[in-house]
Amino acid sequence: MGHKPFKTVGVLGLGHVGLPTAVGFSELGWQVIGTDSDTNKVALVSNGCCPFYEPDLEPLLRKNLAEGRLKVTTDVGEAVRESDILFICVGTPQKPDGSPDLSQVEAVIRTVAENLNGYKLIVEKSTVPVQTAQWIKRTILRYAGNDAEFDVASNPEFLREGTAVQDFFHPDRIVIGIESERAKEWLLELYMPLNASIVVTDVNTAELIKHAANSFLALKISFINMIADLCEVVGADVTEVARGIGLDPRIGPHFLQAGIGYGGYCLPKDLKAFIRIAEEHRVDFSLLKEVEKINEARIDKFVKKVQRALWVLKDKTLAIWGLSFKPNTDDIREAPSLKIIGRLLEEGANLRLYDPAAMENVKQVFPEDPPKLVYCKSAVEAATNAYAILLVTEWDEFRNIDWTQIRQVVALPIIVDGRNCLSPEIVKEAGFEYYGVGRK
Ligand code: UGA
Repeated sequence: MGHKPFKTVGVLGLGHVGLPTAVGFSELGWQVIGTDSDTNKVALVSNGCCPFYEPDLEPLLRKNLAEGRLKVTTDVGEAVRESDILFICVGTPQKPDGSPDLSQVEAVIRTVAENLNGYKLIVEKSTVPVQTAQWIKRTILRYAGNDAEFDVASNPEFLREGTAVQDFFHPDRIVIGIESERAKEWLLELYMPLNASIVVTDVNTAELIKHAANSFLALKISFINMIADLCEVVGADVTEVARGIGLDPRIGPHFLQAGIGYGGYCLPKDLKAFIRIAEEHRVDFSLLKEVEKINEARIDKFVKKVQRALWVLKDKTLAIWGLSFKPNTDDIREAPSLKIIGRLLEEGANLRLYDPAAMENVKQVFPEDPPKLVYCKSAVEAATNAYAILLVTEWDEFRNIDWTQIRQVVALPIIVDGRNCLSPEIVKEAGFEYYGVGRK
């Protein structure tokens, strides 16, 4: 590369956002230093191990460590001093009132202030409420003095878990919110190798785009779930409705998959935070409250569906296929599976659980307790002697399963497909009763 205006990119926080970001920038050819206050995490990452399951990330991590473009350290101060651009990728968990807990952001910003050794471009990447950049600026000035040289920018991440690597290298868009020419130039330079569509705007707008995007996705999901409820009552098929409306480019085909609702660390939390922000500014966001309400009702509707199929659940064995909040991740934060397991245990059912990646995480919440709760090594093992198979996460493995074999091991041939991911024709042909969501 020719002359570059900056040398090193620091990534503060190496979780689901920070690690793909650090690995991604180093793969693009930048010198990257990553840091995290969790020493175990840093030890794992520096040995080339990804602390969570994310397809394709680990080989790329190893490659960039080996080629010397990526370095990790537990010393946050060192990372700050060595870097010109700093990406804030620490967690912003939810407080009981729905607003985000920004204490990790504040803590890391204070460390930045204490280690400021020349101009830094500080970039918010974690999802934060609109106007957080103002607080970051005030905090730096307070702790580093009024002559501190820095800019604050917002560059929200749109990576999805399970496809984070793919999303990093092929983004639909990159949003950068800036307040200075230098910040704009640096961020455009940083992302130049991706050749992506870039939206350049002010910082408040960039912060708001992130919450608006996730809220809109949640809204699409709740919309189609609402339609699914009507389909069930009148005998229509929501998958056909989704196709019929999704072909209109103004609506689009994505995020119209009806089922047990959205989970994960982002959509539920971001929606709550956005509603809180609107409340603080006295703007009516009741539309988004309805989105939440529809989503929360999914679990109860799913359990009722199982009861309609089986009547009494007490002492009946049920197989649960899929536990992660969506396929291709081991993440169970806000996963619908957890609420479903809780409800079914209350009903007195015996559960046999299987997931290709998330079982260890679920065991921390629901320890193995035979015969009430058994973790199984395969989908077939979970289905053995089950009165119904409940499909909760649409891993490909379940789509491609040998139904004739499953038919032989179950106690009753009943499938409740919480994700509409199976073909009713195929499973019915194999002798199963099929219950989907909003399907005939
Ligand atoms: C979401 C956004 O999609 C990303 O763009 C964003 O960067 C990320 O949050 C974030 O803020 O960090 P993610 O949480 O990984 O990504 O998961 P999604 O793919 O959005 O799925 C969220 C939930 O919605 C899952 O439980 C999924 O099963 C559910 N879903 C999704 C549906 O029920 N129906 C659909 O049609 C699509």
